[in-house]
Amino acid sequence: MENSQNRILIKHGKIVNVDSVVDGDVYIEGGVIKQVGSNLTVPGGTRIIDARGKYVIPGGIDPHTHLEFQFMDAVTVDDFYRGTKAAIAGGTTMIIDFAVPKKGQSLLEIYQKYRKLADGKVCCDYGLHVGVTWWSDKVREEMELLCKHHGINSFKTFMAYKDFFMVDDSELFEIFKRCKELGAVALVHAENGSIIAKKAQQLLAAGITGPEGHQLSRPEPIEAEAVGRACIIANQVNCPLYVVHIMSKPAADALAHARSIASATGGSPVFGETLAAALGSDGKQCLHRCWYHAAAHIVSPPLSPDVTAKSYLIRLLAEDKLQLVGSDNCTFSEDQKALGEDDFTKIPNGVNGVEDRMSVVWEKGVHSGVMDVRRFVAVTSTNAAKIFNVYPKKGCIAVGSDADIVVWDPVKTRVISAKTHHQAVEFNIFEGMECHGVPEYVIVNGRVCVDAGVLKAVQGFGKFVPTPVYSEYVYEKVKQAKVIMLQRS
Ligand code: URP
Ligand code: ZN
Ligand code: ZN
Repeated sequence: MENSQNRILIKHGKIVNVDSVVDGDVYIEGGVIKQVGSNLTVPGGTRIIDARGKYVIPGGIDPHTHLEFQFMDAVTVDDFYRGTKAAIAGGTTMIIDFAVPKKGQSLLEIYQKYRKLADGKVCCDYGLHVGVTWWSDKVREEMELLCKHHGINSFKTFMAYKDFFMVDDSELFEIFKRCKELGAVALVHAENGSIIAKKAQQLLAAGITGPEGHQLSRPEPIEAEAVGRACIIANQVNCPLYVVHIMSKPAADALAHARSIASATGGSPVFGETLAAALGSDGKQCLHRCWYHAAAHIVSPPLSPDVTAKSYLIRLLAEDKLQLVGSDNCTFSEDQKALGEDDFTKIPNGVNGVEDRMSVVWEKGVHSGVMDVRRFVAVTSTNAAKIFNVYPKKGCIAVGSDADIVVWDPVKTRVISAKTHHQAVEFNIFEGMECHGVPEYVIVNGRVCVDAGVLKAVQGFGKFVPTPVYSEYVYEKVKQAKVIMLQRS
């Protein structure tokens, strides 16, 4: 980058962090925030961006994507280039993807595979969670190597996808215990996979083969039961737990209940993530007369058939009963979805969201008056940075932080459409949604990658960001829990 491009002054904006909204200027040099304040003195030749009437917010962090993911006999169509380019277009400047091994496969091997796939392609920074789909001494050792030498601090377990990713309760116990020993965060996909498999068999036997079968095989109590069970198991080993993609009211209530018990009794902390899809769509779409439209909305856990779930979930986010919004971007083409033409259990699960996550949260949260702009920053960026231990490098506007910044125009509108989105997938579950709030400038590590609304993302500009263990934000709560327990005994 030339020097003059290296220096940017964002003037007259409303600078938003989780605890403040301040009128002021931000000066960036060499990819880092150098000054925040008013009447800043900056070198000649500095590029000026006028942010009058706009918010200056930390770049979004999407804690949940699946780019180039091999899953259910298909590979997601958004690769690390298209996926991160689309992320930037929507105001997200870091993603955390998942390297998930098959049962029996080495965790290190799958981690290396993802590093090779992503490095050189990503337009913005990225981190990785690693899946744990089986248990052995080797897995135990590899978890430690990943934490100590490869910048991993989070491991995802699955209580669904019986026979390929699912682990049982005793394995969950061992994995959570290991996460706690290493100072990592346990992530869990909470659904009761054994009951889902039984119900799917019953439905297929009764001749129900279409996308509606997906939802019918996964009633909401099945998600809620698993959320409660995962929280109880994690609590037994005092391990911090992060429940991914909470989709229904009962599951969100179960999470909120576990959080309140944890804070009242001094148990290990619990965090809940919901999805842009759950806030901006609903399970009625899976009953659509067009097979592909319905199949394009198949995700696990399913979108709630209760159309009031979206407003319920956004309220829980505003009240800190849920903490983050991910996209779970896991996109399959029409041809790939058609693998399940005659059997809903074979429809590859996943929806889009990496590009539209910020807009959907703004529209449903801030524009609708349910949450303020500081909470918007918390649920789209800062909480992920804190939990995955990259704060304050990421997730805030402060001197010394990476210059991952969005100038957000709260007045401008756009209409979401597959015709104009930047993702490789040909369908968009938010098609036609009018969103107030548009990222006018997106600065990624000091480079203007959306410039007055024009996308200028650069392949390979992003890099892998290690996530160190023992996040203070997470483990401070574990320490407090231990003190409370000792005081009681
Ligand atoms: O349906 C989903 N959620 N697909 C992606 C894989 C996962 O479980 O996160
Ligand atoms: Zn999952
Ligand atoms: Zn996922």
